Amino acid sequence: MACCYYLSLLALALVTQAGAAELSEEFYSCSCPKLAPIVKKGVAKAIQNEARMGASLLRLHFHDCFVNGCDASILLDDTGNMIGEKTAAANNNSARGFNVIDAIKAEVEKACPRVVSCADILALAARDSVVHLGGPSWEVPLGRRDSTTASRLAANNSIPAPFLSLTALKSNFAGHGLSVKDLVVLSGAHTIGLARCVQFRAHIYNDSNIEASFARSLQSKCPRRGNDNVLAPLDFQTPTHFDNLYFKHLLMKKALLHSDQELFNGSSSTDNLVHKYASDSDAFFKDFAKSMIRMSKIKPLTGTKGQIRVNCRKAN
Ligand code: HEM
Ligand SMILES: *[C@@H]1O[C@H](CO)[C@@H](O)[C@H](O)[C@H]1NC(C)=O
Ligand SMILES: *[C@@H]1O[C@H](CO)[C@@H](O)[C@H](O)[C@H]1NC(C)=O
Ligand SMILES: *[C@@H]1O[C@H](CO)[C@@H](O)[C@H](O)[C@H]1NC(C)=O
Ligand SMILES: *[C@@H]1O[C@H](CO)[C@@H](O)[C@H](O)[C@H]1NC(C)=O
Repeated sequence: MACCYYLSLLALALVTQAGAAELSEEFYSCSCPKLAPIVKKGVAKAIQNEARMGASLLRLHFHDCFVNGCDASILLDDTGNMIGEKTAAANNNSARGFNVIDAIKAEVEKACPRVVSCADILALAARDSVVHLGGPSWEVPLGRRDSTTASRLAANNSIPAPFLSLTALKSNFAGHGLSVKDLVVLSGAHTIGLARCVQFRAHIYNDSNIEASFARSLQSKCPRRGNDNVLAPLDFQTPTHFDNLYFKHLLMKKALLHSDQELFNGSSSTDNLVHKYASDSDAFFKDFAKSMIRMSKIKPLTGTKGQIRVNCRKAN
């Protein structure tokens, strides 16, 4: 295949020029041409089975990238001498979709054994989830490799918590090389999915920047004590549709999480961006796609670093 011959030359040139391999949208064009349709089909099947799964897959990619880069570390099960990320504060009883990734990886291994990383499958599954739920599409840069270890401590320290202030959220994102704009637009991911009472309790009982009747209706589901795992939608109107209602809700002070409402309070530095995305869905979609690509490029393992895990749950 001539095209593949030239592509491999190009890949080689990219490696030698920069001294390190770059991610590329064409990375598997020759080595696994069926990859994109396999992931797309696996995601569609999972969402048909459970509408929430698209949100869960998007979040998995985010939580992977924010802990030592997009290296599929979040997928590693604990071992005798390693406590991984699955029981970290932000993930325990919360991160989900691992079985869906396993099923997709099994299909990918059948088509192209030992070629495609779990980290790349996560990045593709996040994109396909957003598209399936009505959001924007983008070309996913590929060529990440998988880590051989994971760290609960790193996960505890790197994933932002919902009680953070805007200042703390900004500095968390800056620590990952992401801008204030990335913070605001990527928070728009909360247009889909659910959160547990334990994560929004303080916001609905103790915060003042929340609309009163909205807070009361949530209080009736999420008591002051107990029912920690009761779920509420992050976007109370369309939690399985990727749209810009999240931003409209911020303007109405109807955000579920404290961290969400931090982005808009009537006099915050990020108010303007929230206004823009609330009134311009195209701008939100365009900027979301750009920022997802930026997030997906956080510290990837490339070249000969890491490995292509055969089973996403454990190192080879
Ligand atoms: C800005 C800082 C962020 C904070 C503090 C935050 C916090 C949270 C919390 C507390 C939950 C609910 C978890 C639970 O109750 O079990 C959640 C859910 C979710 N987050 Fe975030 N998040 C942030 C940014 C992001 C980003 C950047 C993305 C993706 C690009 C994202 C995607 C999601 C999705 C899709 C869900 C729903 C998951 C599901 O239903 O399974 N979040 N987030
Ligand atoms: C990480 O968070 C979990 C859950 O909150 C906690 O049990 C654990 O002690 C924390 N630290 C480390 C190093 O894992
Ligand atoms: C994770 O959740 C389980 C079940 O609720 C709990 O027993 C365990 O202590 C939690 N682990 C950590 C590290 O918080
Ligand atoms: C609300 O704030 C009070 C006073 O700071 C605190 O004692 C209480 O635990 C908080 N409640 C929640 C649900 O966070
Ligand atoms: C809004 O948030 C900013 C920080 O982002 C804070 O300085 C300001 O006091 C807040 N204003 C109101 C009305 O709560």
